[in-house]
Amino acid sequence: MSIVDELRALEVEALGAIGSVSDLPALEDVRIAFLGKKGSLTAVLRGLGSLPADERPAVGKVSNEVREALERALEARKEELAGAAMADRFIAEAVDVTLPGRLRLPGKRHLINQTVDDIVKVFLGLGYKIAEGPEAELDYYNFTALNHPPEHPARAATDTFYLRDLSGDTAAIEGESDVLLRTHTSPVQVRVMERQQPPIYVLAPGKVYRRDVADPSHLPQFTQIEGLVVDEGITFGDLKGTLEHFVREIFGPDRKVRLRPHFFPFTEPSAEVDVSCGMCGGSGCRSCSGEGWLEVLGSGMVDPNVFGYVGIDPERYTGFAFGVGAERVAALKYGIPDLRLFVDGDMRFLRQF
Ligand code: DAH
Repeated sequence: MSIVDELRALEVEALGAIGSVSDLPALEDVRIAFLGKKGSLTAVLRGLGSLPADERPAVGKVSNEVREALERALEARKEELAGAAMADRFIAEAVDVTLPGRLRLPGKRHLINQTVDDIVKVFLGLGYKIAEGPEAELDYYNFTALNHPPEHPARAATDTFYLRDLSGDTAAIEGESDVLLRTHTSPVQVRVMERQQPPIYVLAPGKVYRRDVADPSHLPQFTQIEGLVVDEGITFGDLKGTLEHFVREIFGPDRKVRLRPHFFPFTEPSAEVDVSCGMCGGSGCRSCSGEGWLEVLGSGMVDPNVFGYVGIDPERYTGFAFGVGAERVAALKYGIPDLRLFVDGDMRFLRQF
């Protein structure tokens, strides 16, 4: 077989191989087999030097044609295979843009925390500092130092969760336990006054616990915000002015405040504070049971007996205190008929605020 025939045969063979490969690595193998340093076409071309001089131009021309034909075929097949590979990837990695997405709503603060924040802001604006106390509290701070006599009904094991059992019995009960879940934030007053002399201007928000069954107006765990002011010359007028400011900031400037005489063991005199009904403006309607007023908090002048427990001189200092329920404030402000909505975790309710 002449060299030219050999070249043409190689060409046919190579084009067949190029046509039959099905991926890019296989195509590269074919290229190397024919056009690589040790490829069959390269071997033929090397032999050109030994040809008689008059044959060389013709053979050279054919060999160039063959090389160019193979290079073109390789390039074309390469493009074809790359396109097919891309198409395969598009199919494999396809995203179904018609699938409905998963809705992720942004989180937000719970209405009760928002309410606490709002109240805290009002008092920070008046120069109060935030104070804290433990939720698992000593009987001493929750009752005794707040001037509750030993037989006070709030101490009953039916009203208060007792934690530590001193008697050896299985259930911790009143009188035999000195640790309880605080029933109000008022013990923070005692803790603050124990470690700090006046002037005292503090606000103590926190969780409190009572042995109540949850119903529209009770929760076994709820949130209070305690206020305490002790300084020289503090009067009942200061208490009233402070509470009026608080009520107007939280409920709106046109709301009125009414103080009703009441009793708390740790304040004397004591008052319950009502805000004028936002629905009827005070004339009486269904949401205020015809009263025109809604009860919001308890307050009073710090009882000198309490000062006695903490070593503050009642001749020199006077003070006032108040305690407000965050759930109650939120319920009144937004017309929420059932306190259990705050703890049910129903997003349809919570998202509205
Ligand atoms: N601790 C009272 C309660 O839980 C509320 C209260 C009333 C707090 C009068 C006070 C106060 O600081 O002076 O019902």
